[in-house]
Amino acid sequence: MRLQGDFYVEGDKSICHRLALTSLIASGSISLENFSTCQDVASSLESVRQLGGKWKTEAGKLTLFGAERKVASGSHHINCGNSGTTTRFLMGLLSGIPGTFTLDGDDSLRKRPMERLAKVLREMGAEILCHHHCCPVVIKGKSLSGIDHTLQVASAQMKSALILAGLQADGMTAITEKVPSRDHTERLIKHLGGRLSKQGSQINVERSSLHLDGSFFVPGDVSSAAFFIGLAALLSGSHVTAKNVLINPTRLGFVDVLRRAGARLNISQKSDAIEPYGDIECCYQGPLHSFEVSPEEVPFLIDEIPILTLVATQAKGVSRFRGIEELKYKETDRAVGIKEELNKMGAKISIEEDTLVVSGPTELKAPAVLDSYKDHRLAMVLRLASVMVGNDLKFPRIKHENMVAISYPKFFQTFEELLR
Ligand code: S3P
Repeated sequence: MRLQGDFYVEGDKSICHRLALTSLIASGSISLENFSTCQDVASSLESVRQLGGKWKTEAGKLTLFGAERKVASGSHHINCGNSGTTTRFLMGLLSGIPGTFTLDGDDSLRKRPMERLAKVLREMGAEILCHHHCCPVVIKGKSLSGIDHTLQVASAQMKSALILAGLQADGMTAITEKVPSRDHTERLIKHLGGRLSKQGSQINVERSSLHLDGSFFVPGDVSSAAFFIGLAALLSGSHVTAKNVLINPTRLGFVDVLRRAGARLNISQKSDAIEPYGDIECCYQGPLHSFEVSPEEVPFLIDEIPILTLVATQAKGVSRFRGIEELKYKETDRAVGIKEELNKMGAKISIEEDTLVVSGPTELKAPAVLDSYKDHRLAMVLRLASVMVGNDLKFPRIKHENMVAISYPKFFQTFEELLR
């Protein structure tokens, strides 16, 4: 069995969230091609609608209309579903907008840490209450003041929330990243005319008017594409090309790791409007060898750790992912989830403090049932692992497998098309 062919993915989830939510504080309108239909982005779009923002879909394109901070009055109860990005971005945005807002979501979202962001926003003057440090989060919009803050965790969500608050604050907001993370918010805000500049590892933001204008092709979601690129590196005779995907370097940590493990990947850039995109081609090159991932690399491949763990189970030697603390705070504790489930399949994975250790190569087998822990990325990687050993898209049963729609609604369709 092998993977072969070209494939396309819907617009990058991170970029779609940013476009949708930023429309709340921008003027003008923008027409977007390849906008994601995944459930997480739907949570952001729904919250925009509920807050008085407007968008429409027509002929496969989504048009966003800026709400210019004119949020419908009164108090709002917003369901953020499973989406941490929607919640954290709204915390930053709504902290500076008059009104009372309650943000809540599903059981998984209710376990994710919100207090560490709320604490910093409070320093800017925000009024926020988090229930036991998590959702529901209640925000009363206030006037904000800029602060000088060094991020204690490498989190693009936290960084972005502070930027969105800083755009509405008096004075300058300076955010320093000890370890860089994905930079989509910085790129978008600059493109929309926001006063944002970078000085080394410091991002400076000032109160700004943002303006949506023209049209934009949202590059394909590279984190979705990574599942099939990673699997192609493992299956003899495979050759796939992810077309028109995001090739922003802050998202390509997995490509570097795959190359270090001996995989053959080729990237060709096509365009660089706001965000660069192009094709990523992966051609099976032979057995892979083990690799090390450093803590500084983790933010550039945080969502690809599940697929890279599967790759490590097939690579010769001991692979290590160091500094994976943040994985605990995803839709589930992803380090534990991937370890438990791939070990059920015969892998040799352990967790030593904040390092994930994988010994390979191991022959995998499919047990009767696997558990995704209701985590979309775990569901997808478990299905890849199962198909690899059983050549069957339906066996074994993976609990809550429908969660794939959180980020990749067409996962099964594309998988079937690529399988030979
Ligand atoms: C995201 C940032 C990452 C990532 C998430 C999307 C974003 O989260 O895991 O899927 O769009 O900014 P953290 O910043 O919390 O690590």
